[in-house]
Amino acid sequence: MPSIGISLNTAGSLSPVSTLTDDEIAGLHDSLSEIRDQITVTDLNALTSGNISEHQRPLDAAFYSTPAGLLSDFQSSGDTSEIGRILSEAKRIQNSFDAVVVLGIGGSYMGARALLQGLRSPYYNELGEEHRGGCPKIYFAGNSLDNDALSDLLDHLDSLGDRWCAIVISKSGGTLETAAALRVIIDQMRDSDAGIDGRIIPVTGDSGKLQELADQLGFDVRFPVPSGVGGRFSVFSAVGLLPAAVIGLDIVALLRGALDANRCFEETAVAENPILRFVAVESLMEQLLGCTIRVTSVWSDSLESTGFWYDQLLAESLGKRELGATPLTAVNTRDLHSRSQQHQEGRRDKLVVNLTVGQPSSDAIVIPKSEHDQDQLNQVAGTTYPELLRAALDGTNRALNDVNRPTIDLHIYKLDERHFGQLLQFLMIATVAEGKLLGINPYGQPGVEAYKENMKSILNIDS
Ligand code: PA5
Repeated sequence: MPSIGISLNTAGSLSPVSTLTDDEIAGLHDSLSEIRDQITVTDLNALTSGNISEHQRPLDAAFYSTPAGLLSDFQSSGDTSEIGRILSEAKRIQNSFDAVVVLGIGGSYMGARALLQGLRSPYYNELGEEHRGGCPKIYFAGNSLDNDALSDLLDHLDSLGDRWCAIVISKSGGTLETAAALRVIIDQMRDSDAGIDGRIIPVTGDSGKLQELADQLGFDVRFPVPSGVGGRFSVFSAVGLLPAAVIGLDIVALLRGALDANRCFEETAVAENPILRFVAVESLMEQLLGCTIRVTSVWSDSLESTGFWYDQLLAESLGKRELGATPLTAVNTRDLHSRSQQHQEGRRDKLVVNLTVGQPSSDAIVIPKSEHDQDQLNQVAGTTYPELLRAALDGTNRALNDVNRPTIDLHIYKLDERHFGQLLQFLMIATVAEGKLLGINPYGQPGVEAYKENMKSILNIDS
């Protein structure tokens, strides 16, 4: 079996082990080259000129140019730029509040959740303020219709008095889960002395119900979801960046990482281009080997939410016209004890994409020697956790590859803002490219409307 190494700057390498040949991959080069031109030039020109043909609609291609636009605006206009405003609002929130609730669903919350889990301690909310760098605790709501989840959150917020605020994120401004939670939150805030002044920060599209509500209630500070950027592609707008800045993440480094991915995509020859190779291999695995289940196997607990973010990206972008692989996130080694039996011996319909991290953020934990060796772990005394994890990854890949089950390794050098920016942009570009290769529009999610319409009709709500 040929093994192909591909790298994304210093950040990553892909080594698909499969029965694919270089010739099969090369067969897609012309199409991939054309697709790259569409993503980097043609689609963006169509957006700018407004000359968008019917079959291109919706065209949410601006996710690609947003990081560069935001960075250059920040460089030229500083505090008055979008990034300048996000940073200053984040500072105000940090200075004024102990907790922030992010209201949003789907693309309006999953990116921020991935950033929190990927780049902050799992015990972030339990840490004392000084260990959170003076940043507020963060909670997510408005992403379900779970009565008890919201009720428990409200009880908890009540215990914080007035020292909490809400960022409400909805591009359309009309999503029921988010709107309902906002209404309940406003009610709760109104019951307190501080009321709602300065405590609700909307992030929304140019127009819509949330804009109108914000006008009516006088929410002066607002942030846009840029037009031409779809919800699940909006992590590098205020949608992801405001919550990220509030918890003290370096949002400029995130954007620079996204730009690294763009440059790599634009400047690396198609044959070596890691993003295009990733797309080619995944797509061929699906077409030639019937791998219709795409298992994102994350080898770090802190990447689980990134896996869920990617699940949404793949599902809503590619799940159209009865096409598109079915995404599934597994967290290893945890899920080796729940899912791997099926990956190893179940239907041959899976491609396992390992997402691995090079360096742990903290010092390596070493297995200590013990005089009580009933567990027989003295054999590995002195071995570190990263070494154990590596053995588990290699052992798993070997077991799968030995029985001709394909795997791809997408390796991230380190979990920091710069590399996270690279990773998320890498996956967004790859998803759009794959959609185009499949001949479907990766933007929009028309299939989600049916349940919404039914629900409104059941509840007698006018749209
Ligand atoms: O990717 C998308 O566009 C969707 O998942 C949306 O993000 C989600 O439906 C929420 O929509 P809105 O931001 O309009 O409330």
